[in-house]
Amino acid sequence: MTISTSPKSISIKQFFDRDSCTYTYLLVDPQTHEGAIIDGVKEQLKRDLQYIEELGIELLYAIETHVHADHISSAGLIRQKTGAKIVYSQAAGIKSIDIELSDGDELTLGQYHIKAISTPGHTAGCMSYYISGEAIGGVAFTGDTLLIRGCGRSDFQQGSSAVLYHSVTEKLFSLPEETVVYPGHDYNGNTSSTIAEEKQWNARLGKQKSLADFIDIMDNLNLALPKKINEAVPANEGCGINFNPNIYVHEDFSMTSLYQVWQQEDPDNLIVDNRTEEEYLIGHIPHSENIPLGTEPDHLEALKGFKHIYIYCHSGRRSQTALTNLAMMGLENITCVSHSGLPEWQALGYPIER
Ligand SMILES: [Fe+2]
Repeated sequence: MTISTSPKSISIKQFFDRDSCTYTYLLVDPQTHEGAIIDGVKEQLKRDLQYIEELGIELLYAIETHVHADHISSAGLIRQKTGAKIVYSQAAGIKSIDIELSDGDELTLGQYHIKAISTPGHTAGCMSYYISGEAIGGVAFTGDTLLIRGCGRSDFQQGSSAVLYHSVTEKLFSLPEETVVYPGHDYNGNTSSTIAEEKQWNARLGKQKSLADFIDIMDNLNLALPKKINEAVPANEGCGINFNPNIYVHEDFSMTSLYQVWQQEDPDNLIVDNRTEEEYLIGHIPHSENIPLGTEPDHLEALKGFKHIYIYCHSGRRSQTALTNLAMMGLENITCVSHSGLPEWQALGYPIER
């Protein structure tokens, strides 16, 4: 969704990742065509790169609001593809980035300044970003610090309810009331809010809720851990990629490429189907091994016996996740089909074993 297209105003596109309910923002100064992406999601890389190319954007920054636990960032791959600089809060402690920001620092984007506002509490390194100007008023990208009618949790990654309370009530709530709030997630279909609305209607922090009441609410959320936390946090500490070129996700590797590998019948290569056993039994690539997502550690020793591992699934999502899992376990020479899967193999008329 494009929020603003007035020729004088900065353009803000808001994109959604359905799997993690993450919002990604693409900002463009219409005069210079300089742009920035905020919180890109690895699985949506192709979409985002396509927009960047179609709109002729010179991408200056891949900005992260924090080290995400629920999805893997595309920042590292965006940098590889566009040359954009990776931006994090200094407090996030991420190595191999290009720009570390502290509270009050600014990034220049064409005629605009993106001001960093340190807002820890959801994680110790959370940063919000504020842009103001005549044509746009004020907008704040609040990551998971302030959500629409809610806020991020504070029970892992050095989170703290008390710190989060002060970040929201003293820093974000002191922005101009009409500031538009663009959050890092929404689970209910909302897209934006304002500071005035959240001061009034935020269920956890509105109506001048006391610190004690807020802590009580946060202590009783009883949330399960995000399902991707064990892979997302370590992967994001490496900007969403491992810099070893033998294991990063090759965007161009397709089912046709996999077919060429399959035809070679090289015993040093292993093709892995990482869908469930039920899906595998219905039909799979002949001679592929079924290693359902999440069971990689059980097969580590066997996998080490192959020179190259190729992974596919149904749509590419699970194979990307498995690639990350195996890379974190120290394996190299892994390639996955990242944007398609068995349905495409079938559509191309390649053989299926049942
Ligand atoms: Fe988060």
